[in-house]
Amino acid sequence: MERFDCVIVGAGHGGAQAAQALRQNGFEGSVAMIGDETELPYDRPSLSKDYLAGKKPFERLRLRPEAFWAERGIALRLGRRVVSVDPAARALGCDDGSTIEYRHLIWATGGVPRRLTCAGHDHPAVQYLRSRADSDRMIAALPGIRRVVIVGGGYIGLEAAAVLRELGKAVTLVEAQERVLARVAAEPVSRFCEAEHRAQGVQVLLGTGVEEIAGAEGGGCTVRLSDGRDCPADLVVVGIGILPEIGPLAEAGARARDGIEVDAFCRTSLPDVWCIGDCAILRDGPGIRIESVQNANDQAATVAKAICGRPEPYAATPWFWSNQYDLKLQTVGLNLGHDATVLRGDPAGRTFSLVYLREGVVIAADCINAAKDFVQARKLIEAGCHVPADLLKDPERPLRELLEVV
Ligand code: APR
Repeated sequence: MERFDCVIVGAGHGGAQAAQALRQNGFEGSVAMIGDETELPYDRPSLSKDYLAGKKPFERLRLRPEAFWAERGIALRLGRRVVSVDPAARALGCDDGSTIEYRHLIWATGGVPRRLTCAGHDHPAVQYLRSRADSDRMIAALPGIRRVVIVGGGYIGLEAAAVLRELGKAVTLVEAQERVLARVAAEPVSRFCEAEHRAQGVQVLLGTGVEEIAGAEGGGCTVRLSDGRDCPADLVVVGIGILPEIGPLAEAGARARDGIEVDAFCRTSLPDVWCIGDCAILRDGPGIRIESVQNANDQAATVAKAICGRPEPYAATPWFWSNQYDLKLQTVGLNLGHDATVLRGDPAGRTFSLVYLREGVVIAADCINAAKDFVQARKLIEAGCHVPADLLKDPERPLRELLEVV
């Protein structure tokens, strides 16, 4: 039996940042980080971008070299999965039969890909993209692959489509909604991305789901769509969202919905148990989990400060990014509940922003190849002021100037 003053479950962005932040904030107790993958913490967003494209070796994805963790007295327990939490005994049960006791517990387990459930969902051609192992499996299969069907037109599906097109594969993308990126962006951004992918030769099929994946003679499979169409494929990449990894903590009694509920300090309803990142949902927040590296890192800092006796409520403005072909998509803020949008610039020029407003106040912006807007929109959002649409829509007028006129 081992015991640590702080046990972090999850060795992704959130867990790794929490461990570092504890030390930066002067935490002197023992710290352990448990991860079910065998890897040292690494940069997950690259898995569907330059790592998949073969442009970056895995060594460059590591968040920190191995020695970093030992130098800071952070014990790593990798290749081990926590399967139960006993909040009364302050003990974790692991899948290898071991028990680890904690004084503080930080749950930073992120999410797992939502799986297809249709007939043939377990066909060997069907793959997901969330871990190094997923990406490596796909990379190893690529030389023998010509036709790819991608299920899901979110970030993962679109990023994989871009990489696989650039590698010369024939790519069909199937999205259940009537437009891509429907969860995160408004229509103009969706239509722009769709057009970019079509221009690159991706066949984009909207408003249709997968009915069945059937084995095909001579290898590969046939993806049967709900509109009756059959798509032959050597590889099926599924990116239909994630499910938060919250089972053991929820079973232990932590208040949960689509994530573990936390207060502004990322404290759960269990004593000395904290939760951060993709699997956490702010009790008094926007009502959704924020799936981003920024959120994981910033919440890690929030928890570390609280544990070290300097609590500061979490108040970061969320941001997200995606790379597809030569496009850089950056989003700042949350567009939930927007009642108006303003287009800055012309999508045909491939540099533009879509600004979201609620009751005249800027709440979010999607910036496509428009890094200045991304940086300056954050200031407008944080200022929370009313901005007239006619000022916003002039791309020649820097957003930072609007801070002065409103
Ligand atoms: N068939 C086709 N499309 C589907 C189906 C289905 N059965 N089910 C869902 N979809 C579509 C959704 O409509 C949505 O557009 O899949 C898309 C999933 O998009 P996201 O929810 O954004 O999830 P994903 O792209 O998988 O990304 C998962 O990884 O990179 C991160 O930020 C990303 O946190 C997100 C996570």
